[in-house]
Amino acid sequence: MKISIKKGKALAGMREAGRVAAEVLRVCRGAVAPGVTTADIDDLCLKTAHAMGAESSTLGYCGFPGSLCVSVNDEVIHGIPGPRVIRLGDIVSLDVTVNIGGYHGDNAVTIAVGEIPDETRDLLEVTRRALAAGIAAAGPGRHLSDVSAAVEKVARDGRCGVVREFVGHGIGRSMHEEPQVPNFGRPGRGPILEEGMTICIEPMLTRGSSKVKVLEDGWTVVTRDGLPAAHFEHTVLITAGGAEILTPRAD
Ligand code: MF3
Ligand code: CO
Ligand code: CO
Repeated sequence: MKISIKKGKALAGMREAGRVAAEVLRVCRGAVAPGVTTADIDDLCLKTAHAMGAESSTLGYCGFPGSLCVSVNDEVIHGIPGPRVIRLGDIVSLDVTVNIGGYHGDNAVTIAVGEIPDETRDLLEVTRRALAAGIAAAGPGRHLSDVSAAVEKVARDGRCGVVREFVGHGIGRSMHEEPQVPNFGRPGRGPILEEGMTICIEPMLTRGSSKVKVLEDGWTVVTRDGLPAAHFEHTVLITAGGAEILTPRAD
């Protein structure tokens, strides 16, 4: 297993990609409101990325038709932007990946549109905390699965399902690099993290069963029981002192 180490120019490139990915996500989330279509968010995403000198990493990736993924309510990830109208009471997951100067930055957030039930708000909060716990568990000399176990613990303590079919990943000159970063597993296994590695930690949690399926569009991943799902993601750099978020946001 070969995990790329970023230093010098590559590290500067990753920092820039992370900064831009976070800014594009910030702009997109500001546009989420009742009456807006997911295609409107897609247009804004592409325009914002282009204005910053970046390309969407997802547009055309394995044929994916969106410049970001927009997943609503029971949609977990990989929702295709389109005519769907966002309504009050929805939860909306936005997953923005951009490429600038040959480096990728990837981040996601789930937001509530107006009032949502307490148990759904709790799902969002647990998923956000699971990501934070994963990041806190990352650092040089730590096993990769320490991150996975930390995410899983928060999810389980919060009584949320952990999606197993999709995982986080290394990132760099490609959107998806080694290693895979599962959101479950026993600690003390797998590769040892080293300074200069960049990974995406991205818990995908569910309110009910963790079972998912892919819709007929070939992309959209939904919960089988129709209950809501949440997704938070950061691109992080392993540093001497731990892990630094390359896609910071105020939330
Ligand atoms: N951004 C997603 C991730 O976190 C990947 C999207 S792949 C796409 O890994 F094909 F759906 F765009
Ligand atoms: Co992503
Ligand atoms: Co990712």
